[in-house]
Amino acid sequence: MIKEVKIIGITGGSGSGKSTIVRKIAEVCSDFVFIAQDNYYRSATFISNANITAFNFDHPDAFDMELLFQHLSDLKKGKPIQMPQYDFVHHRRKEETVFVEPKPLVIIEGLMVLYEKNIRDLLDLKLYVDTPDDIRFIRRLKRDIAERGRTVDSVCSQYLEVVRPGHFNFIEPTKEYADIIIPEGGYNENALSVLIPFVKELSR
Ligand code: C5P
Ligand code: MG
Repeated sequence: MIKEVKIIGITGGSGSGKSTIVRKIAEVCSDFVFIAQDNYYRSATFISNANITAFNFDHPDAFDMELLFQHLSDLKKGKPIQMPQYDFVHHRRKEETVFVEPKPLVIIEGLMVLYEKNIRDLLDLKLYVDTPDDIRFIRRLKRDIAERGRTVDSVCSQYLEVVRPGHFNFIEPTKEYADIIIPEGGYNENALSVLIPFVKELSR
């Protein structure tokens, strides 16, 4: 039985370097439960890459926040969860789920991890990754073409119509809830050298 479960929340805009921070932490300390908020996207089966802006993935309603809250609460109580999986190419939740056993440390990473108070209240440490908009856009453009089956045109129109407004309306304002703001994400070696020993301690 686990005595106490600590949850670290990592948020920031699209392409800010949230996943890179988690990867860097995992390189030196892999003993934690990792939850990507992306896995809690609601299915948008009517969407294709041609009409990508018809669904707003950059709005809090795009996520199944209730299920995310439930799962974080369960892990906090030392209970296992069946974590959903998300398919970015077809914009839907996959059939299969992943059985996740609780561990003393949980890391949740995503766009709107600090948006809802009930979720914020479960977090023991809140990080905001603060990376300039132009850098984030370039990263997103490259990634979405390489990994998410997108075109230059679809990435640009989605960015201008929904991603950018969503960032300023729903993501950037949550910076005020952060305990720590990390500039430049996973490439900020100094920030990582402060963060990693703390994370290691929590995972014990
Ligand atoms: O990894 P990152 O934080 O960038 O992932 C979130 C982004 O994924 C959102 O900004 C959203 O626009 C995008 N997204 C998408 N297609 C989906 C689901 C999310 O482009 N089916
Ligand atoms: Mg990501």
